[in-house]
Amino acid sequence: MKILVTGGAGYIGSHTCILLLEAGHTLVVIDNLSNSKALSLSRVQEITGQSLVFVQADIRDETAMFELMKSHAIEAVIHFAGLKAVGESSQIPVNYYDNNVGGTLALLKAMQKAEVYNMIFSSSATVYGDPQTVPITEDFPLTATNPYGWSKLMVEQILSDLQASDPQWSVTLLRYFNPVGAHPSGLIGEDPNGIPNNLLPYIAQVAIGRLEKLSVFGDDYPTPDGTGVRDYIHVMDLAKGHLAALERNTNRAGRHVYNLGTGQGYSVLEMREAFAKACQREIPYVVSERRPGDIAECWADPAWAQQDLDWSAELGLEEMTTDAWRWQSRFPNGFEE
Ligand code: NAD
Ligand code: UFG
Repeated sequence: MKILVTGGAGYIGSHTCILLLEAGHTLVVIDNLSNSKALSLSRVQEITGQSLVFVQADIRDETAMFELMKSHAIEAVIHFAGLKAVGESSQIPVNYYDNNVGGTLALLKAMQKAEVYNMIFSSSATVYGDPQTVPITEDFPLTATNPYGWSKLMVEQILSDLQASDPQWSVTLLRYFNPVGAHPSGLIGEDPNGIPNNLLPYIAQVAIGRLEKLSVFGDDYPTPDGTGVRDYIHVMDLAKGHLAALERNTNRAGRHVYNLGTGQGYSVLEMREAFAKACQREIPYVVSERRPGDIAECWADPAWAQQDLDWSAELGLEEMTTDAWRWQSRFPNGFEE
């Protein structure tokens, strides 16, 4: 199939491109490189021994999107492009709405014009807000607590309304839980800008000596060890979920929603311990204040994805941490050359 991948130079997109190429798909990747380097895509081609077309462009450029879809006879769009820093989204909300919501609208207009009706969208478990109970199923109430979360929820709504208005559309909303890890080659992985906001990249930078110690944000949550519990999922499992969704839902009209998680929660301290084991180093830490906006626990009920997509996560904590460490130790400065 001929697929347009937006944001494909980024963390999840680049890992997904590997599996798409290996499955024989033809890829046109567009990315404005606002949070990534083109080197990730060179590595994708090195790993797979196959080539893809990369165009540096912005999803908000409707004309460019339309022309690319037409000239490459695109059949489906996998839409990763977006800004994703929760804290930053409260500081520059207009940029977040412009990029994530405005960008998706431009992309959808181009798709309509080019008559491409298959869309797979990167949503997030953040759309469940602070859930009343865990595990979370897809029919839980939806809400948001910051502009990033609202932008995901708004795009979900737009895609749902579009599908309802024009039933030939196949719209797939993938709600990711907490993606971690790296390709087992160690050639690509997560490369956050500045000091990482997320737990695993932060721990990895402590392990490599770029950061002094981990701050554990609160140990008085109602969880077994008092620290926050999340559903960490290996990025290669997540990538596999996209392939499964593409194969199942392309030209299968409707609105399809899935949690992509493992169904298993781990605490901050458990993650720290697992990473220390993987890298055979101490990870010093201090307990600090709770981070505003954080919730106690969040993990998926992945049964629907298993049933409808025949997909489930296969990799555990050991693969997540050893693969993340292989990438971090091989390239301490990420894609910076
Ligand atoms: P990432 O920042 O590594 O990748 C996103 C890519 O999109 C980057 O390469 C960036 O340069 C590109 N991009 C941003 N705005 C663009 C624009 N206007 N035009 C073209 N390219 C643009 O992030 P990621 O972790 O790979 O996340 C991919 C998607 O998954 C995002 O939509 C994110 O919100 C969503 N998501 C991520 C997580 C997570 O924890 N990583 C969790 C849930 C959902
Ligand atoms: N944490 C620390 N110290 C740190 C960083 C994180 O203790 O330095 C804790 C947090 O308090 C939380 C857990 O580690 O309990 C995970 O935090 P992350 O920031 O890694 O992940 P979140 O669950 O807060 O959020 C992530 C993404 C969101 C996304 C959500 C669900 O950042 O965009 O997963 O997919 F919406």
